[in-house]
Amino acid sequence: MLYNLLRPLLFKLPPETAHCVSFYAIEKARKLGLLSNRPIACESREVMGLDFPNPVGLAAGLDKNGAYLDTLAALGFGFIEIGTVTPRPQPGNPQPRLFRLPQANAIINRLGFNNHGVDKLIENVKRSDYQGILGINIGKNFDTPIENATDDYLTCLRKVYGYASYITINISSPNTKNLRQLQDAGALDHLLSALKSEQEKLTEQYDKYKPLAVKIAPDLVSQQIVEIAALLMKHKIDGVIATNTTLSRAGVEEQPESQEAGGLSGAPLAQKSTAVIRQLHAVLQGVIPIIGVGGIMSAADAKEKLSAGASLVQIYTGMIYRGPDLVQEIAQAVCADEQ
Ligand SMILES: Cc1cc2nc3c(=O)[nH]c(=O)nc-3n(C[C@H](O)[C@H](O)[C@H](O)COP(=O)(O)O)c2cc1C
Repeated sequence: MLYNLLRPLLFKLPPETAHCVSFYAIEKARKLGLLSNRPIACESREVMGLDFPNPVGLAAGLDKNGAYLDTLAALGFGFIEIGTVTPRPQPGNPQPRLFRLPQANAIINRLGFNNHGVDKLIENVKRSDYQGILGINIGKNFDTPIENATDDYLTCLRKVYGYASYITINISSPNTKNLRQLQDAGALDHLLSALKSEQEKLTEQYDKYKPLAVKIAPDLVSQQIVEIAALLMKHKIDGVIATNTTLSRAGVEEQPESQEAGGLSGAPLAQKSTAVIRQLHAVLQGVIPIIGVGGIMSAADAKEKLSAGASLVQIYTGMIYRGPDLVQEIAQAVCADEQ
């Protein structure tokens, strides 16, 4: 409600400034006790061996450094994914690198994994009071050659293992050169094999198994989806997140700024990502759970992802256009259906 009043003002600011102002306002509201600080209650569900209090999560990229966990927790999410984090800090691409397409309820971003590095993220997590389900999304530094990408993922995995509820392997951001090549069968087989064997060692070391999820792109042809699904099963990966942003501009060609380079998110991505979820579900047959993300702007959109085979959903761009009430709207609608 309040967000409807604030949105025109926020949208007058450059997108990255609006992002900071929004966090500041939500943080203030939380400190004034205006937010509940609890996940929206629902029938809890077990996915990847974890108990989720409700099925609505925050997608990666909004809180890249885990600096706002307590603030985000107050919005009622069933789980929060932070990152993408890389081994070393890096500034990301030069600004401007974030663009709104308001008539399409969409965003284009080419941030390029701007983040403060994995050590800083861990410091932030340690300092927070958040007790809920925490996904930590890991990636590679922009200047690590793609042939050495596995080293970066292993470094991050070792460092975040003790602090995450689950770890997401991001191989699908379009803004890190060649990253998406890691979705090719040979490269993915190699990467997953290294990560699973490290996960085994870490399980022993910490005496606790932490699930691994792989996040994939929406710009895959059917054959690639089948190959990826087969590898996820071969390596007993615990979850798959579908999808990241798209390189396609279908349906938004006429919008101002639509030709900016980067990944498109929001409403124009919805059908494309649901199609990937549907196909994954057909191949995986429930063996590996799917977390559905891409263009969820309403409860109906979330239900569509769940009907296509997702066990949980995540949102990002919907929050920018609809505000934080979207979390509650979706959780309540989905939970009401289940009763
Ligand atoms: C500004 C922005 C930054 C993002 N950064 C990341 C990221 O660092 N890692 C990642 O896995 N996904 C990232 N994403 C992708 C989202 O997590 C999500 O997969 C995608 O935006 C589709 O969902 P949506 O339509 O609800 O936004 C980013 C998206 C946006 C809009």
